[in-house]
Amino acid sequence: MKKFLIIANWKLNGNYKFINKNINLIKKKIDNLLNYCNLSIAPPFVYLSYINNFLKNTSISLTAQNVDIHIKGSFTGEISIKMLKDIGVKYVIIGHSERRLYHNENNNSISKKFILIKNNGLIPILCIGETEKQKKQNETEKICIQQIDNILENSNINILNKTIIAYEPIWAIGSGKSANMNEIQKVILYIKKYIASLNPQIAENIYFVYGGSVNYSNLDIFLKKKIINGFLVGKASLTTENFISLVKKAEKIISLLNNRS
Ligand code: 13P
Repeated sequence: MKKFLIIANWKLNGNYKFINKNINLIKKKIDNLLNYCNLSIAPPFVYLSYINNFLKNTSISLTAQNVDIHIKGSFTGEISIKMLKDIGVKYVIIGHSERRLYHNENNNSISKKFILIKNNGLIPILCIGETEKQKKQNETEKICIQQIDNILENSNINILNKTIIAYEPIWAIGSGKSANMNEIQKVILYIKKYIASLNPQIAENIYFVYGGSVNYSNLDIFLKKKIINGFLVGKASLTTENFISLVKKAEKIISLLNNRS
């Protein structure tokens, strides 16, 4: 059984005060309760090591929000995959729409990062998704497949094995307007079928995660159909008590669904 993965993407938020309160409370209130969910925290780079010290002897893992395409050398301001590995990071988010939009990242550099992460034994979380305009033009599936295909063109289907694909429709991020479950199901099943046509086992081994305005009140809708294997949570991960309630609620619903089937 795949455990449901909840990743708290803090983006450009957090400070020592927030971390001291937040991580201690998360450890105290939810670490021991998690049977069906795995939790990972994605803080800004500068806090990764500090948070990792808190997470020793817990089931909670560490996610980085980005990585450079180079391993080492004269690349001022960058962070390499070896450094992330060195400090205990497990997952690396790449291709987030905010990086595509504000930092000119494209499918080509993202595919290089994906391959680098995978080849260094960490797990890439590849964010894909369409703009509102592309959605209106019925291009969602085409755009998502293009974002995946670029990786396949630079490698082969095995590179996708045991990785994470996060469907994050751009119009749903930070808007308070999440995609509905039928839309999510349509996209994820399309991608899964496409990957299964290349290798059915690899399609099964991929984690399909949804991100875009997930919160305590709407998370039930995403869980019922058992299509998605996790959430990427932005804004709702920044209020500690609410985030703890969100994780507890997901754990409870998933345990009920599993014990029913
Ligand atoms: P929100 O949950 O704030 O919409 O952000 C989603 C996201 O971008 C996670 O990576």
